[in-house]
Amino acid sequence: MCGIVGYLGSKKTKDILLDGLSELEYRGYDSAGIAVLQNNNFSVFKAVGKLVNLQEKAATFDPSGFAIGIGHTRWATHGKPTELNAHPHLGESSYVVHNGIIENYAALKRNLQEDGIKFLSQTDTEVIVHLFEKELKSSGSVFNAFTKTISQLHGAFAILLVTKSESDTIFFAKQGSPMIVGRDTEDEKYFASSDTPLIGKCSEVIYLDDGDYGYVTPSEISIFDKNAHKKAPHFSKLSTNKLSAQKNGFRFFMEKEIYEQSEVIIDTLMGRISDNEINFEELDSNLFEGINEIKLCACGTSYHSALASSYLFERYAKIRVSVEIASEFRYKEPLLCKDTLFVAISQSGETADTLETLKMAKEAGLKTLVLCNVDNSSMVRLADASILTRAGIEKGVASTKAFATQVVVFWMLTLYIAKIKNSLTPNEIEKQISLLREIPSVLQIKDGLHEKITRLSKRYLHGHGFFFIGRDVFYPLALEGALKLKEISYLHAEGYPSGEMKHGPIALADPELFTIALLPQHMLYEKSKSNVEELSARDSTICAISPIEFDKADDYIKISNVRDYMLEFFEMMVIVQLLSMEIAIRLGNDVDMPRNLAKSVTVE
Ligand code: M6R
Repeated sequence: MCGIVGYLGSKKTKDILLDGLSELEYRGYDSAGIAVLQNNNFSVFKAVGKLVNLQEKAATFDPSGFAIGIGHTRWATHGKPTELNAHPHLGESSYVVHNGIIENYAALKRNLQEDGIKFLSQTDTEVIVHLFEKELKSSGSVFNAFTKTISQLHGAFAILLVTKSESDTIFFAKQGSPMIVGRDTEDEKYFASSDTPLIGKCSEVIYLDDGDYGYVTPSEISIFDKNAHKKAPHFSKLSTNKLSAQKNGFRFFMEKEIYEQSEVIIDTLMGRISDNEINFEELDSNLFEGINEIKLCACGTSYHSALASSYLFERYAKIRVSVEIASEFRYKEPLLCKDTLFVAISQSGETADTLETLKMAKEAGLKTLVLCNVDNSSMVRLADASILTRAGIEKGVASTKAFATQVVVFWMLTLYIAKIKNSLTPNEIEKQISLLREIPSVLQIKDGLHEKITRLSKRYLHGHGFFFIGRDVFYPLALEGALKLKEISYLHAEGYPSGEMKHGPIALADPELFTIALLPQHMLYEKSKSNVEELSARDSTICAISPIEFDKADDYIKISNVRDYMLEFFEMMVIVQLLSMEIAIRLGNDVDMPRNLAKSVTVE
């Protein structure tokens, strides 16, 4: 995920910016840059890859005395990781850095291009600086031009802008992406998109609210709220612990990533949904021409997201889908036909087994698509097309937010194809899009839920095994719940289709067999309920997850009364993630680095 830093003062501006960026490295990035304005001259450095490349480029640059500067680490969303796409972005005499996505950038860019403005990058960010300079020509003041600029931006953003027109001022705005202003001595100001770059530099900070914007000068911090009312700055003391700041106060990265899901889905959706259609700018419309089948191939959690999506593809896009485990697919001598679109799914884009299957598909002449979280990864470079899931860097070995974003991208892709194939009516597509918009709120962890799961978890630390069971898309979710639990708790867990239990596994049922039953009200409720009753009758200990209270269960976790099974899917996903994590924590395990596992599996 992108990171921002800013500094105004008389200390070593370059060092402060580069140090700040290195504190943001843990978030993941693929290029970086800084712009320093001193004596009305800009010095700008950008580099692709690790920060050391940027440090080398700026090695002989040594500004001393008063300066203002902004810096950025970029995790590519719009456009490849190149120097031209790296921030800061230039207008005529101003630079901008930005986190988030400007949803209406395409329309703004068209208008600016019609006015004769030339764009250098493929990013959404560049529109901000050109828009600002256009407004500057007709506005009475620089701040006025900045205010008019941000009022035209839709989407999520955290922005810093510096301009020769006011060379002792940094302008800022925050909407949906984090931004913090810090100060040490009175005439020194700092900015960062998270606490860590500020620790050890500032004694007090202001956490900006959504809609806040303003400017800082050596003598002033001016903040306005979304209604343009001036706010009194509210300073807080800054934590001194960097690792805990990286974890945002959570105990583990996995926990932070579970909580982040609501926010990252906003990024996943951004710019890709409108009221009545799905738009993947990264896809050529002829990718699906002549395609009669889709083959999804992946490992682990990514395989589970593919399996869940196969139900959506057939149900909504009416296209034949097969799902393959990459390590099996490689050696099964598969029949590959040219009317099949081969889709590899991978958080990292480096998993050896999946990468090899992608090579096989390419060699067989199939069209290929990759769903991936890491731009420029081996799979993204190899495939004909790619869609980035935009989950931001995932540090916990047990994948959580990557899974959520994969399912969301697949759901969108289903509707994209449904439109091409006319398999859903415009009204049905609109309804599905309105459901997609509800995912971020469904993923917010409701008051009391986490405490309840923590309390329940103490009853599930022993036994001879867990069955996670569900039907339809809740079967892959059951597989994913079981994988999460076994990865981090080292307890034996299996995912099973609810209806399949009676064909064998029910023989294991006794009080020491724990069943985690996924019982959505909008998907085969009665059938799933009967399957759970069969287990309850044989005395299995049951934890039911459902919006409808279930009296045959020993434990019950209630989900909300949402209006569609896919929304129930996402709410249950969070619950199985939290339950697995709390069981593992009670067992004393390091859930971020479970034994025997690696984040990226680059060996066969
Ligand atoms: O990077 P990938 O998505 O290709 O990784 C695939 C699996 O190795 C991965 O999902 C693994 O199963 C995770 N540890 C699951 O939490």
